Amino acid sequence: MVSTGSTSGGDSTSGGDSTSGGGSTSGGGRDAGRPSTLLTNIGELVTNDPAADDLLGAIHGAALVLEGGRVAWVGPAAAAPAADEVVDLGGRAVLPGFVDSHSHLVFAGDRAAEFAARMAGESYAAGGIRTTVAATRAATDEQLTSQVGRLVAEMRRQGTTTVEIKSGYGLTVRGEARSLAVARQFTDETTFLGAHVVPDGTSPEEYVALVTGAMLDAAAPYARWIDVFCEKGAFDGDQARAVLEAGAARGLRGRLHANQLGPGPGVRLAAELGLTAVDHCTYLEDADVDALRDSGTIATLLPGVEFSTKQPYPDARRLLDAGVRVALASDCNPGSCFTSSLPLCIALAVREMGMTPAEAVHAATATGAQALDRDDVGVLVPGKRADLMVLDAPSHVHLAYRPGVPLVAGVWVGGRPL
Ligand code: NIG
Ligand code: FE
Repeated sequence: MVSTGSTSGGDSTSGGDSTSGGGSTSGGGRDAGRPSTLLTNIGELVTNDPAADDLLGAIHGAALVLEGGRVAWVGPAAAAPAADEVVDLGGRAVLPGFVDSHSHLVFAGDRAAEFAARMAGESYAAGGIRTTVAATRAATDEQLTSQVGRLVAEMRRQGTTTVEIKSGYGLTVRGEARSLAVARQFTDETTFLGAHVVPDGTSPEEYVALVTGAMLDAAAPYARWIDVFCEKGAFDGDQARAVLEAGAARGLRGRLHANQLGPGPGVRLAAELGLTAVDHCTYLEDADVDALRDSGTIATLLPGVEFSTKQPYPDARRLLDAGVRVALASDCNPGSCFTSSLPLCIALAVREMGMTPAEAVHAATATGAQALDRDDVGVLVPGKRADLMVLDAPSHVHLAYRPGVPLVAGVWVGGRPL
């Protein structure tokens, strides 16, 4: 199972926020019942240590000690302490597990025909969501659970150790609550997206009243976040504000889909409300970029969507140069982007969006964690969760340099290999 997050605890312990120096230990996170493990002969260890001089806090010729599900020590291999078990990684690179802060895994059916039509010249439209709503409503709980399990396993094999999962293909009180209950079996980072599109047979006014009323009541026990698709053909700025405010009154943190298909009010609304992250950000005006910089709201870019819809890629360079924090996520869903691969997203961000390999890796790990308000993942320093991947390559650059190649050779979650 992918890491379940901060609220359940899982096998995580209370490790602190200590950072590594040239080699340091943490008093937290010890578990006397579990052996410690030394991973050594690491060609490049990406720590994302914010105290380091370089963005990735990279250590060459490194070692890492895992204990009690947490990182207990990082530093040069020559200075590593003894441990109960030793794993020689033969010069391979080690990175924090990817933190995929945006996915829609609870659905049935697929839309391969819609994709093929797009590749033949049709354009993407929000209305396709209703096709998946019909298939999802017809599926059993068991079918949905097995679908999510399959996709989470697919993500994990590609290095993702923390995933956010949204509802949004039920669009009834029962359908949204059960989608979130299914998602909750796999992660605590669950997001109520009843405001995905207005379903057939109801008016926008009636539907927003339902989303902010009975549907929110039923969804809130299973959700940490609330989200709205703020776009032409879905929900406007006023409706998005109403949904986010209702969610906040129930203790749900807000996030938004915005400026995906054209310019709109969503990005500025997210900044005004001080949301942690606003996702897509494909069509931005200068005022949107300024608002993101001033608010500190993270722009989560989803390049798999532009790959699959043939829209222009978002301009990550413009955002980074303006001082905006940028995260990368998959947006895995059956319509606009059916990939679960963050290595693909990193390769696209480097080739098409002006990011360096280091910026893209950081965006899919440390900034992805920040986009979920998480400080226990995305970083490999003492006290943090021992969620990591081993690449069959000597450095992080290979994720973009060798696109399409399955480089993830091993994944560890909570200090255990999968
Ligand atoms: O993030 N933008 C809205 N929701 C999804 C697409 C959902 C679909 O097409 O089924 C997205 O791209
Ligand atoms: Fe999405």
